[in-house]
Amino acid sequence: MIVDHYAGAGQRWAEGATIVYGPIARQLLATSPHSLAGRQVLDAGAGTGVASTPLAELGAHPVAVDLSIDMLAWDAHHRPPAVVADVTRLPLRSGSVDDTVAAFVYNHLTQPERALGEAARVTRPGGAVLACVYANASRSRVRDAIDQAALAQGWRVPDWYLDIKQSATPLLGTGEDMVRAAKQAGLLDVAVDERPVDVGVTQAEQLVDYRLGQAHFAHWLGHLGPIRAGEVRDLLVEAVRPIMQPYLPIVVFLCALAA
Ligand SMILES: C[S@@+](CC[C@H](N)C(=O)[O-])C[C@H]1O[C@@H](n2cnc3c(N)ncnc32)[C@H](O)[C@@H]1O
Repeated sequence: MIVDHYAGAGQRWAEGATIVYGPIARQLLATSPHSLAGRQVLDAGAGTGVASTPLAELGAHPVAVDLSIDMLAWDAHHRPPAVVADVTRLPLRSGSVDDTVAAFVYNHLTQPERALGEAARVTRPGGAVLACVYANASRSRVRDAIDQAALAQGWRVPDWYLDIKQSATPLLGTGEDMVRAAKQAGLLDVAVDERPVDVGVTQAEQLVDYRLGQAHFAHWLGHLGPIRAGEVRDLLVEAVRPIMQPYLPIVVFLCALAA
């Protein structure tokens, strides 16, 4: 059975996590081998639309797919068409979109090559498949300190998150793994770049808001209620301010073509 682990996370993702995911989505789109203007582009695992927004700004026509209705419901009136669906079984005809973008969704899957195969299937021949995940080498002492401070305030790491971190996230977390999976999915002209990304996060407030915007904090913060959640956020900011450094996550970018 498929479970929506992002239920209840939409607002915090849009207002917090986007601080980091937004700049990375723009860098992902910049890897496209051709202009995306005027093209129908699938945003697979679109969440709150972090990649759909810059796609639309580029003149593309995004269509969003995500498992989580809560993520898709964010700002629904202003967003492109969206469908609740699984990226490993897309309800789309073969070759029905011009390009596919998948930001930080394939790292949730224990068989990511299946989802890459679906992207290869629904993208018309010659269309781009652009994807990104965090590299296994991506580490941040400050981000870890935020988690430690949250644990001290009563947060518990959800089992589903531990499970994904162990069984799914590492699978595409190196350039070699991404190349192998993309080729296995039948993609052509596979190019992978694993590099640190300057997301412009230099302040403790930014990093804490990004971290607390992620889905594995949503249930806990919702349970605390807005006043206590605000107090906890301020405590976390003060806890990491003395050790704050610019946040430079390492990302594996895939750019390939559908056959
Ligand atoms: C880390 S968020 C990324 C969201 C967005 N792409 C961004 O960059 O902000 C992962 C998203 O993938 C979705 N997701 C996870 N597994 C999925 C699946 N099998 N099919 C469709 N969406 C999935 C989650 O609901 C969530 O919205």
